[in-house]
Amino acid sequence: MRTALITGITGQDGSHLAEFLLDRGYRVVGMTRRRSGGALDRIAAIREQIELVEGDLLDQTALTRTLERVQPEEIYNLAGLSFVPASWQQPVATGEFTALGVTRLLDAMRLVCPTARFYQASSSEMFGKVRESPQRETTPFYPRSPYAAAKAYAHYITVNYRESYGLYACSGILFNHEGPRRGLDFVTRKITHTAARIKLGLEDELRLGNLQAKRDWGYAGDYVRAMWLMLQQPQADDFVIGTGEAHSVAEFVEAVFAYLDLDWRRYVIIDPQLVRPAEVDLLVADASKARRILGWEPEVSFLELIHLMVDADLALVRNQLRTPRAEHRSARRRAVGVA
Ligand code: NAP
Ligand code: GDD
Repeated sequence: MRTALITGITGQDGSHLAEFLLDRGYRVVGMTRRRSGGALDRIAAIREQIELVEGDLLDQTALTRTLERVQPEEIYNLAGLSFVPASWQQPVATGEFTALGVTRLLDAMRLVCPTARFYQASSSEMFGKVRESPQRETTPFYPRSPYAAAKAYAHYITVNYRESYGLYACSGILFNHEGPRRGLDFVTRKITHTAARIKLGLEDELRLGNLQAKRDWGYAGDYVRAMWLMLQQPQADDFVIGTGEAHSVAEFVEAVFAYLDLDWRRYVIIDPQLVRPAEVDLLVADASKARRILGWEPEVSFLELIHLMVDADLALVRNQLRTPRAEHRSARRRAVGVA
């Protein structure tokens, strides 16, 4: 039985990846931060099948002890502050978790389990103000937020530990991926969840920022398969993962409201406060290297993703309407897509 350690197991990707690895017979250990309560909702359904260890990307000693205790063969580093606007509010914390946290973990791996395989959750946000379209592994980075700058550091330190110490360390440059477990602040889930509430008569407006921004949106379940595939190759390498299709926020809104048989123009309000200090206008992936070497293809299309998310949010909101106050906790679990 192989052992995988996942940092960020309580997040969208961590929960999907844990399920994917359990299905393949892995011993799955998740690293979680000490907190005053709750927030294991996304992994509630698999809680008995996984182990959790406490640790924090800020604490070198804790990381070293975690690796000594778990002795993982595969390490998936998914932890970090992932909401881009928050990185302008907390630029230093972003650098600590998302940039230096990766050095801490890589260095602990170098000393404790140098033969393990390491996956770093890099991001298409690193391409920022893009130099070419579509973006591929060789496209230069132009970060447009403290988040993206921290991810660019993390990407290069992963490459550097591979080249300096011969570690098996990969960086997956993943484009936006979504699903019913997406946090409510991210634009796709904000749209599907608010639209479902509008449909059921609970809201009458949806406030958004820049509708013209374009993203390459895929389904999170497809993307965790790519992470795993990267760690099964004879040699460590970096891969762009995305669908190759770009859609604007406006197109996403239109498709969601059309599916619900609503006219989006009646509900959407542009709120200048939601416009970012520096925007990333267009991201679209050239994932041909992943297709060629990993044999990876996305299975869920743009419209299928939208229908999946809207259906889940309609079910969630209907359930909440039926849920007495005492059952709020299980309603919260459903809010992150866990039945
Ligand atoms: P997410 O749902 O926000 O999950 C983030 C995870 O990181 C949570 O489990 C969180 O734990 C944990 N975390 C945050 N700070 C930590 C710290 N200091 N120590 C330990 N754990 C910490 O994000 P996601 O969508 O699953 O994304 C996973 C990773 O992929 C992130 O690094 C993100 O930046 C990157 N990424 C995501 C996408 C995407 O489209 N989803 C695309 C490219 C890259 P708590 O529960 O304790 O908060
Ligand atoms: N969140 C949000 N809320 N975004 C909005 C809104 C709004 O009300 N209105 C318009 N947008 C636009 C943003 O300006 C951005 O251009 C786009 O919608 C997508 O925003 P998010 O869903 O917040 O995602 P992101 O692209 O900034 O970042 C996500 O993808 C990255 C990969 O490219 C996150 O998951 C990052 O962690 C990830 O690295």
